Amino acid sequence: MQAVQPKLIIHGGAGSSLKGKSGAEVVRRSLYDVIEAVYALLLDGASASAAVVRGCQLLEDDPRFNSGTGSVLQSDGQIRMSAALMDGQAQRFSGVINVSRLKNPIDLAEFLQTSPDRVLSEHGAADLMRELQIPLHDPLTEIRLQEWIQERRGNFTKEMAGVVAEKELVSSEAGRGTIGVVALDDQGRLAVGTSTGGKGFERIGRVSDSAMPAGNYATPHAAVSCTGIGEDIIDECLAARIVVRATDGLSLQAAFERSFTEAAKNQRDLGAIAIDRTGAIVWGKTSEVILAAFHTGDRIGDSLEAGSGVMVDRAD
Ligand code: GLY
Repeated sequence: MQAVQPKLIIHGGAGSSLKGKSGAEVVRRSLYDVIEAVYALLLDGASASAAVVRGCQLLEDDPRFNSGTGSVLQSDGQIRMSAALMDGQAQRFSGVINVSRLKNPIDLAEFLQTSPDRVLSEHGAADLMRELQIPLHDPLTEIRLQEWIQERRGNFTKEMAGVVAEKELVSSEAGRGTIGVVALDDQGRLAVGTSTGGKGFERIGRVSDSAMPAGNYATPHAAVSCTGIGEDIIDECLAARIVVRATDGLSLQAAFERSFTEAAKNQRDLGAIAIDRTGAIVWGKTSEVILAAFHTGDRIGDSLEAGSGVMVDRAD
């Protein structure tokens, strides 16, 4: 196969606008650092799956984002994380649901790609961690702890935590952080990964969309990662809906436009990023902001300045 120009898009969540002093510039720097590191891997011939796993690890390790280190706390003060990986070429999904005390949940999803049992929840994932001798890691950060304590004092009036961990806690509007990576490699293969700490302050046992095909889905034709309120994403079955439309012949942009028109009509609060096998890079949102950045091969760009409300855009 003739070499294809690699493409990459990542997100660090969607929700209300950033308000803290750190604001958009710091988030942009964090996202661009990951874009640069992962795009270099793609140029070196890394597979889409390997690039996606590395991108997810880097975003999970950044305490600003709600996944891995820096994950939000649930109502009982515990951190439970979920992550999924889908290889578009193999059309194979794997993931973990509500795992604890782990640095990179995406690593378990990667391991499960070649396992006969490909989605594990709490106890099974903990068993697998022991089996693989993955060291224990406490993903708790001071900002997320303070966010939980502040909310605990108010007896949990917010429905979820901030989209990113900002130094000045956002007290008015809720956010919906998650991270996601979509890549097209030089062999024309697509992959997608999504990782989250959940909504924050949620009921014990609540399951995120991120480790479901609703939030993370790919075929050889298109790959999509979602962010936003998990329940809204599940109700729209957003990632699978967009991918199926693109696989059945709509352009990726048209698949986004149709799906986001429906989501907006249903008053959903969500966002998504995607790439198709032609190299089209598209993102969309019904929320105020989606924190996405991309590499087209010629340039790096982002969605941080995009206006409020429903928007579908492509990178080129
Ligand atoms: N989209 C992340 C969550 O709702 O858990």
